[in-house]
Amino acid sequence: MSVKRTVYIKTYGCQMNVYDSDRMTDALAPAGYVPTDTLETADLVLLNTCHIREKAAEKVYSELGRLRVLKEARAEAGRPMQVGVAGCVAQAEGAEIAARAPVVDLVVGPQTYHRLPDYLDRARRGERVVETEFAPEEKFEQLPAPTTERTIARGVTAFLTIQEGCDKFCSFCVVPYTRGSEISRPVAQIIAEAERLAGAGVREVTLLGQNVNAFHGEGPDGRAWGLGRLVSRLAEIPGLDRLRYTTSHPRDMDDDLIAAHRDLPQLMPYLHLPVQSGSDRILAAMNRRHTAEDYVRLIERIRAARPDIALSSDFIVGFPGETDADFEATLRLVETIGYVAAFSFKYSARAGTPAADREGQIAEAVKAERLERLQGILAEQTRAFNARTVGLTIPVLIEKSGRRPGQVAGRSPWLQAVHLDADTKLIGEIVDVTITGLATMSLSGVRAGTEPNRSGLAS
Ligand code: 5AD
Ligand code: SF4
Repeated sequence: MSVKRTVYIKTYGCQMNVYDSDRMTDALAPAGYVPTDTLETADLVLLNTCHIREKAAEKVYSELGRLRVLKEARAEAGRPMQVGVAGCVAQAEGAEIAARAPVVDLVVGPQTYHRLPDYLDRARRGERVVETEFAPEEKFEQLPAPTTERTIARGVTAFLTIQEGCDKFCSFCVVPYTRGSEISRPVAQIIAEAERLAGAGVREVTLLGQNVNAFHGEGPDGRAWGLGRLVSRLAEIPGLDRLRYTTSHPRDMDDDLIAAHRDLPQLMPYLHLPVQSGSDRILAAMNRRHTAEDYVRLIERIRAARPDIALSSDFIVGFPGETDADFEATLRLVETIGYVAAFSFKYSARAGTPAADREGQIAEAVKAERLERLQGILAEQTRAFNARTVGLTIPVLIEKSGRRPGQVAGRSPWLQAVHLDADTKLIGEIVDVTITGLATMSLSGVRAGTEPNRSGLAS
């Protein structure tokens, strides 16, 4: 029997880290670790970190500063605490973290979380463990599927990683270096995990990958399956009523996947398809390998297949060499497409990426001004989209209790948060809700009764 210990995992960054944090919880369970929500008393604190922009990476070092004080106090009180850094900062800066932050007992990259119990034993024996080996196949083979109560019964929605890494090498991005080259999970493994989730009451699964639509996992027939085919197969699993995937690259939106959007009611009409910029010059400098026009045509094809599809994107402003005219081209593209949501960032030079040392780095004030303008337009598009939903009756997956007693919260097919007064017994159900109001971040509605049903958003 192993000793009972508690672990607190703090997750930064993308959904894949959220998924990985759960897998760490699962990997630690056989070693006697139970998750806790109280950092102050945890026996082990793990930071699952993000390296995508400088700010994200810097957060780790300030958190480690706070943990140093806590760790010292805990040692004095005779209740020692271990501190580990996982995720992409660990992968990129392993040795540097160890040198810069003596508080850290363990540094582990995203590929070998299944070996955590062993690493922690070594750390307890006084070793400073730094493990940043690339072992993606081993990760998929060895990482436990959702097994602990906390990770399997998290709720009615779940993430499922199907692909990791990226071979695209956009010139601004650290991902190909921190997560390694593209690798897809075998289809059978994915189906088994999805069935397990459905069996535990999950109604909606979001398939994850750094380049999820480049998925090419080995199918049961020995051939490589694309994402379209995988999604069609997952749609056959009873109980899995909603499927989503993120994040995609425009170059990998193939015909099969577009057809899946046309044919599968389970595949939600929402697509996060980052374009980054609307200027062909900047797109080329970013090594995106498509033009703004290619993107617009692609969106036209996707919309022809699924007219009510809602689109979201990522944007970078102030990429090296970006002129006012380039930036205006981005604004024009945004107006042309019309997004329901978006993430936009100031370009952040990342050491080791090709764009980091380029000439024409843009002044911080210019980046800030461009970001503000872009975000203003995007926010208005989100508001206008949400406003168009008011008065419609739409299927809402009820996910959790709302803020007030008697209230529940769920999501529309277009990923809008919806609040309504209803019994929490409805959690896990998809109910028709008539949207009656609009707040900044969410919609409010009432269960559809006698209102005329005008579902669908096609405009
Ligand atoms: N600077 C700013 N934003 C970046 N992103 C990736 N790398 C950088 C960078 N160096 C953004 C991109 C990507 C999202 C996940 O983060 O928009 O799509
Ligand atoms: Fe980074 Fe995405 Fe480009 Fe890959 S496709 S390099 S993850 S921005």
